[in-house]
Amino acid sequence: MKSKVTKAIFPVAGLGTRFLPATKSIPKEILTLVDRPLIQYAIDEARAAGIREFIFVTSRGKSALEDYFDDAPELETALRKKNKNELLQELKSTNMESGAIAYVRQNKPLGLGHAVWCARRLVHNEPFAVILTDDVIAAEKPCLQQMMEAYDETGGNIVAAMEVPREKTSSYGVLDCEREDGATVKVKGMVEKPAPEDAPSNLAVIGRYILTPKIMQNLNKLKSGAGGEIQLTDAIAQEISEGNPVYGYRFRGQRFDCGTKAGFLQATVAFGLQRPDLKDEFSDYLTDLMSMRQAAE
Ligand code: G1P
Repeated sequence: MKSKVTKAIFPVAGLGTRFLPATKSIPKEILTLVDRPLIQYAIDEARAAGIREFIFVTSRGKSALEDYFDDAPELETALRKKNKNELLQELKSTNMESGAIAYVRQNKPLGLGHAVWCARRLVHNEPFAVILTDDVIAAEKPCLQQMMEAYDETGGNIVAAMEVPREKTSSYGVLDCEREDGATVKVKGMVEKPAPEDAPSNLAVIGRYILTPKIMQNLNKLKSGAGGEIQLTDAIAQEISEGNPVYGYRFRGQRFDCGTKAGFLQATVAFGLQRPDLKDEFSDYLTDLMSMRQAAE
């Protein structure tokens, strides 16, 4: 019998140098798409998938993240006094119940595998999810929920997967596929950031994982891999070589790489256009902008 997945790890220790100077004083995960911080999208997705315990792997300078999930009594009182009930509900939905959230520090930037390993004592002997907040996925059914449904059938380890242009393989973990079964792909190998000519396919890992606790044991023993970092991909690949099942899951939805400025801007436009309170004004603006650009050419 597979145990239920109720814990998720959010590796949020990165410095966010691509977003300097903003990230000089704000954690990257607090940057907002429209009016919600990146981390909120990740938390909402985890909740929809049945996650009840949220483990943040943080580092120095990330205390704004802890404050974000705390109750904000002064703000709540002010909104209540002004009868701003909708906003009050919105605000309260970001509070996290005491004990549902835990923070562990990654005290050296040794890579994603190392960040996940830092949470080992909190996941104990249970399967767990990992969500990378840079990967924002717009989907009718949230991506991790789609994966949980697949996991109910397969068990084992599942990673979100998406085809990328071959020239981009060196930015991703890449899957070597054995066979396809609908959206699920049985994987026979996995490589971190291969050059296009060495990549086993163009099916890339996107930042959602459901993993067995054995991955933590593998991480215990791992030496640094690609880029001198301890790679989560290598710990998962070890499972394949030991004959344990690993699957890729081709999720339905649109993924935005919010770890890059271009991806972040695309997500801002896409989410802005989805918002009932903004979409008319915003799409009129974009249409005008496009026609002005065309006229100028
Ligand atoms: C990480 C993983 C990589 C994965 C990617 C998805 O890389 O190491 O396997 O494909 O996330 O976004 P990073 O983007 O942190 O370099």
